[in-house]
Amino acid sequence: MQKLEQRFSIQYAFPVFFTRDIFDVDNQLFASVLMEAGEKCHNILCIIDSGVLAHDSTLYSRVEKYAAVHSEIMQLCNIVTISGGEACKTKPQVIDSIIQHIHDNRLCRQSFVLVIGGGAVLDAGGYAAAIAHRGLRLIRMPTTVLAQNDAGVGVKNGINAMGRKNFLGTFAPPFAVINDFNFLESLPPRELRAGMAEAVKVALIKDSSFFDSLYEQRRQLASFESQSMEQMIHQCAALHIHHIGTQGDPFEFGSARPLDFGHWSAHKLEEMTDSILHHGEAVSIGISLDSLYSYHKGMIGSGDLERIFTILKDLGLPLYHQALADIDVDTALHEFQEHLGGELAITLLTGIGSKKEVNRIDTNLMKRCIEELGLRFHGKNATAGDEYGNSVPMYGVLN
Ligand SMILES: NC(=O)c1ccc[n+]([C@@H]2O[C@H](COP(=O)([O-])OP(=O)(O)OC[C@H]3O[C@@H](n4cnc5c(N)ncnc54)[C@H](O)[C@@H]3O)[C@@H](O)[C@H]2O)c1
Ligand SMILES: [Zn+2]
Repeated sequence: MQKLEQRFSIQYAFPVFFTRDIFDVDNQLFASVLMEAGEKCHNILCIIDSGVLAHDSTLYSRVEKYAAVHSEIMQLCNIVTISGGEACKTKPQVIDSIIQHIHDNRLCRQSFVLVIGGGAVLDAGGYAAAIAHRGLRLIRMPTTVLAQNDAGVGVKNGINAMGRKNFLGTFAPPFAVINDFNFLESLPPRELRAGMAEAVKVALIKDSSFFDSLYEQRRQLASFESQSMEQMIHQCAALHIHHIGTQGDPFEFGSARPLDFGHWSAHKLEEMTDSILHHGEAVSIGISLDSLYSYHKGMIGSGDLERIFTILKDLGLPLYHQALADIDVDTALHEFQEHLGGELAITLLTGIGSKKEVNRIDTNLMKRCIEELGLRFHGKNATAGDEYGNSVPMYGVLN
């Protein structure tokens, strides 16, 4: 037998900035980020979420003006708008059109793709940027709470295919992430709330004092007070970054995926409701379910369980959806196992701020937990539309 061995390692590092008014011509941050790639003029393709543009009609011209003022460091090749929300991850034409723009503008591996948008647009733009020429430099500018505190600060992207969530995607660390809090000013309350579910999630699995502070601040968060929101986003992003960077498996070769706490049912709910339930809302329901299961397994006490239900409820997040009753638990777990690769690994709670991976779920107990959630949280105050005209899924929010 003959054997050759290839071995090398690559160090990845990227900054995550927090700022305001990133395209004010006097804000040097964006120019200085580009400067890190060399003091020359960099080609940039800019992709913007239509939902952001709809509320911020001057964004387009501010980007253009910023590029003109900083022309020594950036050449803006084009600004492309793609429709925001989950649909952009589901239509292959969206990816094709971004790749077409990369081609038409003769961008190379050293060019930049700047994506401004929610988690869905970041995922779609990031995926296209990662596969064209096997990877262009990506700068993410997340514009939702969920994208600023979670989706935008990680190392992966993904689009939906075969009727499955994130079936295609790559691990591709960005060049930089810039969180501009001003973008959140136009975000509808429903989206502001949805992103908080990921903060509750990461607090529950990693940091009891962060959970305590979220719990204490829940009324301020529910009314979107900017200081509480910014602290929540900063700490949530920091915990995600820290976890990805220090837990030894940034590219998820193993099966354990603690940051996916509550996500096995969340992914299924998003699929089953055709994304009527948004990601953060589905995660909130998934957290409720897996917390209740942890309780029935004797892993957390009733006091902890009630605090979890209370914070989600007080933040205005859903704890149940009727589609949960239709989940085929065995199939959903099996699909999640496929998504993880290897054996099933479901994260459960052993307390607030501590977790345990299990490889087996008692599906009968899980089904009973779904029934119990339904009895407690279904139907009360269910509503057909919120103040923004979104159709809101039927779910119960306790008073
Ligand atoms: N890659 C990852 O690691 C990762 C992690 C978590 C979630 N995700 C993905 O993120 C997606 C969810 O992201 P999301 O919660 O940001 O929702 P989203 O991207 O679906 O956006 C929600 C809505 O808000 C609009 N919007 C975005 N920014 C706005 C703004 N500033 N003002 C007004 N409207 C705005 C969008 O157009 C869209 O209609 C899911 O597809 C999920 O799978 C990815
Ligand atoms: Zn998530």
